[in-house]
Amino acid sequence: MLRIDILSAVPNLLDSPFNHSILKRAQERGLLEVHVHNIRAFGVGKHKQIDDYAYGGGAGMVMMCEPLAQTIESIPNWEKADDIIYLAPDGETWNQGTANQLSLTSHLILICGHYKGIDERIRATYVTREVSIGDYVLSGGELGAAIIVDSIGRLIPGALNNESSALTDSFQDGLLAPPVYTRPEIWRHQKVPEILRSGNASKIQDWQDEQREKRTQERRPDLFE
Ligand code: ADE
Repeated sequence: MLRIDILSAVPNLLDSPFNHSILKRAQERGLLEVHVHNIRAFGVGKHKQIDDYAYGGGAGMVMMCEPLAQTIESIPNWEKADDIIYLAPDGETWNQGTANQLSLTSHLILICGHYKGIDERIRATYVTREVSIGDYVLSGGELGAAIIVDSIGRLIPGALNNESSALTDSFQDGLLAPPVYTRPEIWRHQKVPEILRSGNASKIQDWQDEQREKRTQERRPDLFE
């Protein structure tokens, strides 16, 4: 069982992403539990303040320490979490290898930043891993958190049915996936490759391997190296 706690200042952004398809099934099967926490519930004063001006000046607000600290410490057994992850553009870039690794853990805490980020002392005190989902800036960590939970959740043993085995996914062995086809055999004059209808499993496998290498070479020469 993997428990994931997500800290957010905009929890409504995460209302739906985990309630469909494979992630829904993983939760129904008791493999995954996702809890979203509203940082504002621990805001300071009657305005439930969670951010303030940056020391040193400059545009943009910074998320304050105390609301974040209290939200983290309200999570059962937070000290024993496998990782406390802060989502930020300056983190390590998320990839399939890290998703595989984290799918085998049992408790993750994700902190979504907003504005100019979170007070550095929270990073120093609690955060064990910093993740970026790519070289572009989001308005907050929430959509990144949804991506992380999705890519991890589907890898938890038992989450996928056989027909969607993770072993044949792109990236799983460093190559992209091959092209796929379904009925009808001919659609607007375009035919499904003969080999896929041959019933010869080893020839089909060879063709798919060839296609994967060709695709990877053409589209992601960096992966092919
Ligand atoms: N927050 C803002 N930009 C982000 C990114 N690229 N990855 C993760 N969290 C972010």
